Amino acid sequence: MEGATIDIAPMRRRHLPAVIAIEKQVYPRPWSRTLMLGELDLKESRAYLVARDGRRVIGYAGIMFVGDEGHITTIAVEPKVQRSAIGMRLMLGLAKSALERGVNAMTLEVRASNRAAQGLYKRFGFVSVGARKGYYQDNAEDAFIMWVRDIDTAEYGELLAQYSLRYASSTRFELPRVIGGAPQ
Ligand SMILES: CC(C)(COP(=O)(O)OP(=O)(O)OC[C@H]1O[C@@H](n2cnc3c(N)ncnc32)[C@H](O)[C@@H]1OP(=O)(O)O)[C@@H](O)C(=O)NCCC(=O)NCCS
Repeated sequence: MEGATIDIAPMRRRHLPAVIAIEKQVYPRPWSRTLMLGELDLKESRAYLVARDGRRVIGYAGIMFVGDEGHITTIAVEPKVQRSAIGMRLMLGLAKSALERGVNAMTLEVRASNRAAQGLYKRFGFVSVGARKGYYQDNAEDAFIMWVRDIDTAEYGELLAQYSLRYASSTRFELPRVIGGAPQ
């Protein structure tokens, strides 16, 4: 990973075998290929990204657009390369995609025990605003509901600009095309 250029690019069908393989390693209830394919087909209301090291898919993330909000549906990085700022680059890609769609707030749910993910989200300004008791069916764990608002402000733009600069020399960003225009 040291010195590699990471590509952040729209997820395509051909990436699904690698995506599902990571999914199975990191989630107790992995999404199926059918579910992923369904998400990929919803191009007007979703943005799915992969992170690639050369041709190898090493992470992915997705966001669903609902009015002027973006709901992050998933983010995962291959265990072997975790803690190499791949999650940071994917989150940056999601935030940029959200802004292109005219979104001004993002939300997500995260396991109460998932400190790694919570740390990543905090770096993008997410704060926990409440919990859903027993949300996860496999172990009845609570979900924290996190939000970041006003992402269309100069202040938030400054944060993203800082991260963009940090990863500029080691990352190529290609974001999904906006289909159907940004919401009014
Ligand atoms: C959460 C996840 C996507 C993070 O991806 P990553 O590429 O390893 O994270 P990054 O290297 O970009 O880390 C960014 C920040 O997140 C936090 N973080 C990430 N991993 C962490 C860990 N193991 N412990 C504590 N903090 C962690 C840190 O604040 C980190 O910044 P730092 O390295 O400068 O301290 C990854 O751990 C993962 O795939 N986990 C399994 C799937 C999952 O839980 N997804 C989220 C579901 S809500």
